[in-house]
Amino acid sequence: MKDKDYEDFVERLRAESDIVSIISQYVPLKKKGKNYWGCCPFHNEKSPSFSVTPDKGFFYCFGCQSGGNVFTFLMKMENMVFPEAVKLLANKLNIPVPEREKTEKERQIERERVTLFRANELARDFFYACLTKTNFAGGARKYLEHRGITQEAVKQFGLGFAPPAWDKLVNGLSTRGIQLETMIKAGLAAERNSGEGAYDRFRNRIMFPICDLRGRVVGFGGRVLDDSQPKYLNSPETLVFNKRHILFGLNLADKFIRETGQAIVVEGYMDVIAAHSAGVRNTVASLGTAFTLEQAKSLRSVHEIVFAYDSDAAGQNATLRALEIAKKLGITIKVIAIPDGKDPDEYIRKHGADAFKLLVTESLSLVEYSLRSSLQTIDYSTLEGKVAVVSKMIPVLASLDNAVEINEYITQTSEALSIDESSIRSELRKYLNIEKKDRIVNVGKDSSAVYLKNRQVSPTEQAEKTIIRFMCEDMSIIPYIEVQLTLEDIQDERRKKIMKSICNAYNMEKNITDISFQETLGEEAALEFSHIMLMDIQLTNMTQMVDDCIKKIRLFSLKKLYEEHRLRADELHRMGDSSFLQELAESQRINDEITKLHQS
Ligand code: GTP
Ligand code: MN
Repeated sequence: MKDKDYEDFVERLRAESDIVSIISQYVPLKKKGKNYWGCCPFHNEKSPSFSVTPDKGFFYCFGCQSGGNVFTFLMKMENMVFPEAVKLLANKLNIPVPEREKTEKERQIERERVTLFRANELARDFFYACLTKTNFAGGARKYLEHRGITQEAVKQFGLGFAPPAWDKLVNGLSTRGIQLETMIKAGLAAERNSGEGAYDRFRNRIMFPICDLRGRVVGFGGRVLDDSQPKYLNSPETLVFNKRHILFGLNLADKFIRETGQAIVVEGYMDVIAAHSAGVRNTVASLGTAFTLEQAKSLRSVHEIVFAYDSDAAGQNATLRALEIAKKLGITIKVIAIPDGKDPDEYIRKHGADAFKLLVTESLSLVEYSLRSSLQTIDYSTLEGKVAVVSKMIPVLASLDNAVEINEYITQTSEALSIDESSIRSELRKYLNIEKKDRIVNVGKDSSAVYLKNRQVSPTEQAEKTIIRFMCEDMSIIPYIEVQLTLEDIQDERRKKIMKSICNAYNMEKNITDISFQETLGEEAALEFSHIMLMDIQLTNMTQMVDDCIKKIRLFSLKKLYEEHRLRADELHRMGDSSFLQELAESQRINDEITKLHQS
């Protein structure tokens, strides 16, 4: 199908789908006024700040600022790329999907990915057969048995063995028609220094296939059977393996993570296998690297992440990262402090499945964990020590969004350090003012203070948003606005872009609900656009309001311009350049305009 046809198809899908009924399949929605409201599936919340406008086809969450159209929703919810979301929506609506014609480059990459998946899959089967059927894997089988890995786990995780030879895999894959070049690109083989041929990358190692969400093999980890180094050898980054995005075990854990809303993140392969075998099947591993935002996103609609890292240093590092991630995604973070420095695998082997499950239920909140580990690692008998503990605690306290909780932990911290609560409070205030100008402390209706993520909106900002909304509500006012405002008057780049696209759409008789219109906006402006479409505004008295907005926007823009010319005049004057007079005259002219506008 040609691009134009595909575009038309997408447009038709959008027009025929009802965003409320699609989103309702994932989130219970309630009608309130013109829009629908529910609890946001993309962050953890108890009162609804997620809203959907049925007539315009947008959603926006006022809590975590995610938004978009029906396709954006499916992409986020199902962790899909655009064409997949199109397919899914078409399926939901029972409309057959014509194939989109891909570009030559897209097809090339697609082909290459398919060959890499195929090579990896064959390699997994090869390693698996080696482990389960061959004589030279006797030691490996003993090793796994000794570590308590059952045959069932071997099968479930597709574990294998790379034989202690240089070319067994290369030869095996060659006879199955895999090119050497593909093996090298997949990270299964390495090129010989001589440039002639290639040899097996993994030798004499227990093999752990690493899969993506759909269970396709993207890479491998290989463990030695003894104490030699490196303990683990992992596949290099390839066209299908991006470590920042992959969590080991997610293909098996995803279902359980969705069921429980909770994910347990451990460090290693062995920990995942042990946890799954112990019946804790919502467990994944970040594979030694620091937990990333991309990995957190791949957990999709998870509400709670429990970190069960081995060492305290790793645990503390993880909590720091988790803090940022929690802030961005609104996920609750908990930490399991495993007794006597064991990793989950060792702990389960020693104390059993139930003991580990208990640790999970008794996991500490981020604040409790930070407080406990700070008190353990910092000598807080000295003044410096107390300061150090407080400064470690402040960002963690600031990440909380519940006043009752904040107060509770302030009390705990102050008691532990024997210092006054008020000093912690004042540090926290300072931090919130400096670091988070965009969060204001507010007293909510239910008498508990909450930190609102919404920024205080300036009048100009509000005016820009409102006028855009009016333009969309009634496009016939666009020419009226166009003669009074220029794009230069709009301060915010995203809104400038939106305004420009709306005017273009109007001139070309296009609709703002068209997907092609939204595509011209790009990601950031599109998000801002969904926000604007879901703002609560009065539509009565529109002409008066429009004039008001124009005036505000114009005034702000003129004042800025005035300042600029004044500054330049000053500068030229100082340098003895007589052209300062022109600048001065220009600034005077602008000033007159401002006065006139004020009087109007
Ligand atoms: P066992 O020692 O077999 O119990 O493995 P483990 O998973 O407990 O290993 P460890 O806690 O030492 O490391 C956690 C994870 O970090 C591992 O599962 C690997 O993903 C990664 N890792 C550990 N050692 C190495 C290494 O030498 N090289 C690389 N690339 N990764 C490693
Ligand atoms: Mn271990």
